[in-house]
Amino acid sequence: MKNDPSPIYDSRLELVDRLFTGTGPTYDSMVHWATFGIDRLWKRRMLELIPEGNGPVLDLACGTGISTLSIARRFPHRQVVGVELRDEYLQLAREKIRREATDNVELVLCRAEDFHSATRFDCITSSYLAKYADLPLLTRNCRDMLRPEGVLMMHDFTYPPRPALIAVWRLYFMVMKQTVARVFPAWQEIYQGLPRLIEETQWLATLQDSLARNRFSDVRLEYLTLYGSAIVRAVNAPDDGDDEARRLAEEPAAARQPPA
Ligand SMILES: C[S@@+](CC[C@H](N)C(=O)[O-])C[C@H]1O[C@@H](n2cnc3c(N)ncnc32)[C@H](O)[C@@H]1O
Repeated sequence: MKNDPSPIYDSRLELVDRLFTGTGPTYDSMVHWATFGIDRLWKRRMLELIPEGNGPVLDLACGTGISTLSIARRFPHRQVVGVELRDEYLQLAREKIRREATDNVELVLCRAEDFHSATRFDCITSSYLAKYADLPLLTRNCRDMLRPEGVLMMHDFTYPPRPALIAVWRLYFMVMKQTVARVFPAWQEIYQGLPRLIEETQWLATLQDSLARNRFSDVRLEYLTLYGSAIVRAVNAPDDGDDEARRLAEEPAAARQPPA
């Protein structure tokens, strides 16, 4: 972990903690029922986009393990690693793994941006992480952990682009705030904070910029269900031996100064 956290680092962690504390036990039901089952369709689409093969898959911000476990079930011969920041959710994922006696999943308690592995993954996925993450840092680390031609896939909410869709979107959150959040107080922070977060996030632009800087290829953007969310998918271009030059170009000049 970082020794000297920046204010941005602190505020992101603080936000995630404030939004999610206490939501673990109801998370799976909430994400299913409050999206009218649409979350399941979105996760299924992510699953379809994972390339066939035998290599390991990394699921970042795995939460209670919904997608991690569905990847593990869909590819029983593949190793699946789930990384999650909050122990509250990870404990629930561990319990599911124990119940299902799943033997191809490993869970790691860690901030996604701080996770490093010598394993070269076939595919790295994440759902609902992008808007909280330091995407330039995360993209660079993902590139290092993907095999050449490996696929990076990030899914998150998007703010609809058209007035009619925005009206439906606002109505949805208003109803949720007045109903669900009142019945389930642990969800109040999420229904208060999420609409603004989705409206203000620049995750799509930042991620696409970071992918270009890290020379990912075949970048594809797919909007889902009335522009309610999107998946960005990109391929780790094969190494042309120029990686050291790229890293030096990105590194702040001060970090390259020799010690006095
Ligand atoms: C809405 S939940 C999604 C969980 C899971 N991906 C799913 O789709 O069900 C968002 C998760 O992201 C985690 N998270 C947020 N920022 C993170 C970070 N920087 N590193 C790792 N996990 C993070 C939160 O703790 C939370 O579990």
